[in-house]
Amino acid sequence: MAKVNQDDLKRQAAQKALQYVHENEYLGIGTGSTVQFFIEALAKSDIQIKGAVTTSRATSEALAHYGITEVSLNEVHHLPVYIDGADEVNHLLQMIKGGGGALLNEKIVASAADMFVCIADESKYVSRLGHVPLPVEVTENARSLVARQLVKMGGEPELRLGCKTDHGNVILDVRHLNLNEPLKMEHQINEIAGVVENGLFAARPADVLLLARASGVVEVLKAQI
Ligand code: 5RP
Repeated sequence: MAKVNQDDLKRQAAQKALQYVHENEYLGIGTGSTVQFFIEALAKSDIQIKGAVTTSRATSEALAHYGITEVSLNEVHHLPVYIDGADEVNHLLQMIKGGGGALLNEKIVASAADMFVCIADESKYVSRLGHVPLPVEVTENARSLVARQLVKMGGEPELRLGCKTDHGNVILDVRHLNLNEPLKMEHQINEIAGVVENGLFAARPADVLLLARASGVVEVLKAQI
């Protein structure tokens, strides 16, 4: 059998996600390379949506490129579905996100949606979160203060060089935190003054995971776990 590369798998998960798009409704769209494949698939499909709520400049640019109407979250009263990738996802469909630096908007738009559909290739599926560093968005003036707090919590923060988020903040990528209780850690980090948001998605996990494997796309529903 021909070897399937990671981009092919991302493309397959993205294609499958079209089944979840509600015709003539608004759609929330995340950020990242898997999402880029999704936007391309959406544009090539004959599915009509009212408009897309974006989470980053990169996604806005892709939407504009394909002529998909963008709307502000403030104009949207009902968002049935949000589609996004993940850096890591576990069996509870909790995730680490923010590799692309868009975690704040992603968390806002995900929280507004009735259903979160996560699209990922199999390399993202982990038995325990924390193999990738956890992104923490902080205000620039508080980066050292927050970093010291994260060290006290057992973490090893590193400033993401050359990165300013769409909100003008900086990101600390944190290794070695104990993420055995993701929900607790998500709240604990957000309590530190100066933290704007962190990339743990435990309070708002995905509802469906479309996980692309060489053998096909597996659909994992949160309720079945
Ligand atoms: C961006 C994200 C992305 O969903 C995550 O980084 C996955 O990206 P990709 O689809 O390129 O693997 O959280 O902030």
